[in-house]
This record gives sequence, C-alpha cells and structure tokens, in this order.
Amino acid sequence: MKIGLLGFGTVGKGVYDLTKPRADMQVVRVLCRRELHLPDAEVTHNFEDILRDDSIDTVVEAIGGLHPAWDYVKSAIEAGKNVVTANKAMVATFYDELIPLTEKMGVHFRCTASVGGGIGWLSELERVRRIETVSRVGGIMNGTCNYILDSMSRLNLDYAEALRQAQELGYAEADPSTDVDGIDTWHKLIVSANIAFGVSLDRNAIPAAGIRSISAADVEEFKKRDLVCKLVSTATSQDGRFSAYVQPTLYPQGQPEAAVPANYNLITLEGNVSGRQSFFGQGAGRYPTAYNVVQDCADFLTGHGFYGPGGPKVSIDNSEKMVYYVRGEKDAWLVANGAESWGSAIVTKPVSVEDMHAWLRAHPGSFIAAVPSYL
Ligand code: HSE
Repeated sequence: MKIGLLGFGTVGKGVYDLTKPRADMQVVRVLCRRELHLPDAEVTHNFEDILRDDSIDTVVEAIGGLHPAWDYVKSAIEAGKNVVTANKAMVATFYDELIPLTEKMGVHFRCTASVGGGIGWLSELERVRRIETVSRVGGIMNGTCNYILDSMSRLNLDYAEALRQAQELGYAEADPSTDVDGIDTWHKLIVSANIAFGVSLDRNAIPAAGIRSISAADVEEFKKRDLVCKLVSTATSQDGRFSAYVQPTLYPQGQPEAAVPANYNLITLEGNVSGRQSFFGQGAGRYPTAYNVVQDCADFLTGHGFYGPGGPKVSIDNSEKMVYYVRGEKDAWLVANGAESWGSAIVTKPVSVEDMHAWLRAHPGSFIAAVPSYL
C-alpha cells in the first residue's frame, strides 16, 4: 500500500511513525504546510502532487476541519483512491455526500479513529451490524471534557487549569470550544449512530449541551450526593423512531461511567442479541489515534471498506422526558418545572429533552446536567 499523507501534526506524525517500520504500507508523500524533510517520503505543499501520483492508492487525511480536508478527500475518492480519516467533523458534516460517493466510486473508506481515538469502536459496529440490530449507542466520547471533569471532581482543579492541562497534553481540538461546547461529541455521536443504525440522522435536530459553564460549586453539589458529572452522548433507535442528544449527565459513584479517568472514553451499545457492550480506552492523543488510522489501512489490505451500507435520512424525536439539574436564570418555565433545590440550582420534574435544550439555547451561560431518574 502506498500512502499519501495529508497533514503532519499530532495524528499525521503518529501515522508516519507507526507505518515506518512496516513492509505492507508505506507513506510515500506528505502534504505539509511547513518546511519538513523526511528521509523516505517526499514532502509537498501541493495536494495535486498526491492526487496525480498514480502509485498512491490510499490517502490518509490528518488535517482536520472541514476545508480543505473535505475538498481533498472528495477529489481523492473521485480519483479512485481509498481514504482513511480521523476527521469526525468532516465525516459528520458531509456524510450524505461522502458515503454514496464512496459507494459509487467503489473505493474503500474508513474513519475508525474519528470516534474513540484508539478504541476499535466503529470497527466493532461493523461486526455488530452483521448479526444484530442496535437500539442504543453513546457514552463518554470526548477525552478533553473527561479530563476536565475528572480533574475538577477528583483533584479539585478549577475549570481553567484543567482545560489548560488538557490542551498541554494535546487532547483538545485546535479551538477548545469544539470540545467544551459538546460539538466534538456531537460529531462523534452522529458518525456512530449513522453507522450503528444504518441511517443518516437529521443532524440539525440533534442538540448539544457542553461543560463550559460548569463551576466548582456544581461539582461540590454533585459530590455531596456521591454523583459524578460526565459529558455523554445518546442515540436510540426504536420502531423507526430515532432520538439523539449530547448533554452533561450525572452518575452515582460505582457506575462504570463515573469511574472513567483522565482522557479515557467509555462507549456503549445495546444490541438485540449481544445485549449491552461497552468499549473503554484512550479517546485522544497521538498514538492511540494513529493506531486506528493504521488499523484502517490494514483493513483495506484485507478488503474491508466501510462498516456497512449507508441509509435513508431520518428525523429526530427528542420528546423523551428526564430530570435535570439546572443552574441559570430562574424564569417562569424553570420555576414551574422545578421540583427541588440543590444549592443555587434547581432540579426539575421530568421534562422533555427537547424542551430542556430549547431553554438552554435561550439562556446561554447556564449549566444543565441530566439526573438519573432513580435518584
Ligand atoms: N479533542 C478530542 C477529544 C480529540 O478530546 O476527545 C479526539 O477526538
């Protein structure tokens, strides 16, 4: 396999390092903006050099972001090259165009590292889909947010210091808003649910609440009740009805989610044959991510392309009701739906996911977290 590698940042350099000693795949050209010299690969500033090189059968996209990443990936697929990417934003955004295009061109496409970093989560969904129907996917999918929440809860760090450390460790996206506002988790949920359910969810109807506004006082309230806050994604599929959302969620100590440390992810599926299965591992970082990129390249060598057929566009129904911890302006809706107070926050009666997220959009700077119904 001859690889054209787009980007030589955290992931690109990791892919280069992992493929270097291998006989079955070789990075022959690297697209990189800065000056770079490699002993065994040609470095170019021009994507056309990779596109026009007929010896390159596989393009690994490690630039991130939407553009020019998508333009390059699209051109590579149209030129008949196989593509591997870790770029969840691109896959989630262009899913409806991307998957039919790969099917039309008959090329391989995989994006295992885009969700769960080093966890073989999407690869396992491919196997799951061969045997059973998946009714639920989701979990802790963002290493940066988990690192921040874990540090606030276990080490009593404040939010700013915990974020600074996550950035220093290379977990955070270039713009950390993507992580802390739940957008990265939102992208990963869309990719996971589309693959698991064999559909294309109406992503504009999927709400995301992040952790930007969590305070030490919130964490204190949770600790008093032996609760741990995590940023969690959920998507369900039941009798043709689909729900999907991203939100901070409280777990009692002792639940697996509550114990997830540092930059780790814990992603779970529910299947009608295997039941509940969870996948745990490092969700971010150079080598965990590069590991799954190289695994995808190895899958191409054994003839494995995408994880299963794409599917129809489907709408979202988030009418499911749950209880929320809400810290923000106590307006008429919140007071009418309040059941009790935790410190300066209100804990609601069961309200719909849809209504709670609509309230949050109207009250930026507030913080919400789903409370388990059995508390
Ligand atoms: N910023 C992402 C995270 C990187 O923290 O999980 C891996 O997708």
